[in-house]
Amino acid sequence: EMSPEERNFQEKIDAEVKIEPKNWMPEAYRKTLIRQISQHAHSEVVGMLPEGNWVTRAPTLKRKLQLMAKIQDEAGHGLYLYSAMETLGASRDEEIQKLHEGKAKYSSIFNYPTLNWADMGTVGWLVDGAAIVNQVVLQRTSYGPYSRAMIRICKEESFHQRQGYQILLDLMREGTEEQKQMVQDSINRLWWPSLMMFGPSDDQSPNSQQSMAWKIKRKSNDELRQMFIDQTVPQLEFLGCTAPDPDLKWNEERGHYDFGEIDWQEFYDVLKGNGPCNRERIETRKKAIDEGTWVRQAAKAYAEKQQQKQQA
Ligand code: ACO
Repeated sequence: EMSPEERNFQEKIDAEVKIEPKNWMPEAYRKTLIRQISQHAHSEVVGMLPEGNWVTRAPTLKRKLQLMAKIQDEAGHGLYLYSAMETLGASRDEEIQKLHEGKAKYSSIFNYPTLNWADMGTVGWLVDGAAIVNQVVLQRTSYGPYSRAMIRICKEESFHQRQGYQILLDLMREGTEEQKQMVQDSINRLWWPSLMMFGPSDDQSPNSQQSMAWKIKRKSNDELRQMFIDQTVPQLEFLGCTAPDPDLKWNEERGHYDFGEIDWQEFYDVLKGNGPCNRERIETRKKAIDEGTWVRQAAKAYAEKQQQKQQA
């Protein structure tokens, strides 16, 4: 038997009316949103690190400016998302503390290293490309503040995806043999981890069913992964590169690309904290907070002084 509040909530969900911060919501709905949005925010912030690795080594001033702009956008995305999370009553400091204690999840992809310049192209093209496929449908998520954050974030992600693909196109069209090999090497390393971004397959995804019923998620992990592959393979071919997957081929009957089995053991190892860069990423984030303490203290002291002056 549903309570009147529950019935009202369900009617809104059914009618595609957004749930807003002050509306009644089931505790489990609130909790799963805090879980997903905090993980999403952490991903944006940790996601700055693999690219930060190349700012000082970008090949031209133009590339450096583009890369810096993109990394700053990720910081902004993290801030919108932490704010959306706070509307649910969660504490930003507490959630960030959990990240620093290794207790919070963030996207597995950011635990892989960026080893060559082509990785800046591949991260933009594949990683941001996968993020867009996931986030475009989240624009229709049932929680208002999350949905509105996604609308703005998606616009910026499109620029990221294009700047990444352009880096790869230039290397493939005008590059030396060595530069072309660098692109292929980068794709070989980041292809499978990009497919893992969509999460476990639907029959192994504990949260999907309830999140779909609440319209927090609008498409399943496997549906989104297939959409991403279908839109990405033609771009891969246009580049003149290949995927490290011998089973990847067009299936006329299904109207989709077939692809090989993901190494789920690797996925779960990364989630447990044992990916190539997990420890380094967390250490870097902790260091950033520690070393920035004096800036926050100085800003606070200055604000207090200004306030006292005004009152005097
Ligand atoms: N990396 C790390 N953890 C993951 C990943 C991944 N690629 N995929 C799934 N997980 C985690 C889930 O968070 C969940 O953990 P939890 O139950 O301990 O919280 C667990 O694995 C089981 O997965 P699901 O039941 O499928 O979880 P969920 O329904 O939350 O779906 C998904 C996972 C698709 C990632 C969803 O949370 C989502 O859409 N999140 C928003 C998008 C996002 O976070 N993007 C970040 C990368 S893009 C970017 O930052 C640029």
